[in-house]
Amino acid sequence: MKVLLFGGAGYIGTHVALAFLDRGDTVGIFDNLSSGLESNVSPKAKFYLGDILDRERVSEVLSEGWDVAVHLAAFKAAGESMIKPEKYSENNITGSLIMITECVKHGCKNIILSSSAATYGEPKYLPIDENHPTNPENYYGYTKLCIEENLAWYAKLKGINFAALRYFNAAGYDTTGRMTGLERNPANLIPVVMEAACGMRDHVAIFGDDYPTEDGTGVRDYVHVTDLADGHVKAADYLVKNNKSLIVNLGSESGLSVKQIVDASRRITGVDIKAVMSPRRAGDPAKLVATSAKAKEILGWEAKYSDLDTIISSTWNVYKMNMEKKN
Ligand code: UD1
Repeated sequence: MKVLLFGGAGYIGTHVALAFLDRGDTVGIFDNLSSGLESNVSPKAKFYLGDILDRERVSEVLSEGWDVAVHLAAFKAAGESMIKPEKYSENNITGSLIMITECVKHGCKNIILSSSAATYGEPKYLPIDENHPTNPENYYGYTKLCIEENLAWYAKLKGINFAALRYFNAAGYDTTGRMTGLERNPANLIPVVMEAACGMRDHVAIFGDDYPTEDGTGVRDYVHVTDLADGHVKAADYLVKNNKSLIVNLGSESGLSVKQIVDASRRITGVDIKAVMSPRRAGDPAKLVATSAKAKEILGWEAKYSDLDTIISSTWNVYKMNMEKKN
């Protein structure tokens, strides 16, 4: 199968590329390197420097003929999207429409979207299934929902197939150490905790300890990127084989609190990571946990690497290695 990954040099895309390459597919990586790294691109994949807002470049690369396009080229900082919505409309929405319409033009009829649990917004019940109402709390989540809706229209009007994979909290690194690039300026909890463990920052701010959760801190469903990557391979096979679209959650189905993440990181790194209680961050729900029953039933997907220790230790190995390289 020939698979083109838009945004394939980023944190999640790199792991998705490895999963397709591991089973012998032909992989192209299209990335503008705004947050991705060329060093993340496997020598077995072909790299195309380009921006999804550049219609001519997108068209040129798609004209080479691809079976599946995976769309991971998006900004993803929920907090920033509330301050700079223009940045998110332009890249996430306009860029996606260029990419989707060029896929249609060049006969790439299977599109996999990196979607998000942020499409659901404040949970009305837990665990969240795919029938949960979509009511994003932040503009980032809205952009993902908007792309899903456009894919559904293009599926109806132009006969494409799409898979919207609603990730919960992506975390961890390839357990065999094949990805070594760190995310730049991370805002997510685990990389922030790792930076504190490495001395790259003084402390971790815990955003609220008065939530109605067991220990008062926010609870999330952390899913290992290698499991997410496997979900893309299974979704690609599903689209090609069944000629049908799907929307599925990809989550570990277990909730971990901020405190549990910090405590496990202290244990695994051996560093007494400093944590400072801070006010809640706007728009953060108390608890988000998925049910992935649909992914299991339809795709035969199951999380295998998403336990707390594998997530933290695989991330720590990469941070530690980068720290040692610098010293
Ligand atoms: C958010 C989005 C998610 C998206 C992800 C990508 C929502 C509801 N969720 O996840 O869909 O895919 O960003 O970036 O929009 N925390 C701290 N201190 C920190 C950082 C985080 O205490 O320095 C806490 C947060 O309050 C939260 C948990 O850690 O309880 C996880 O936060 P984070 O890693 O930022 O992810 P989400 O906000 O859950």
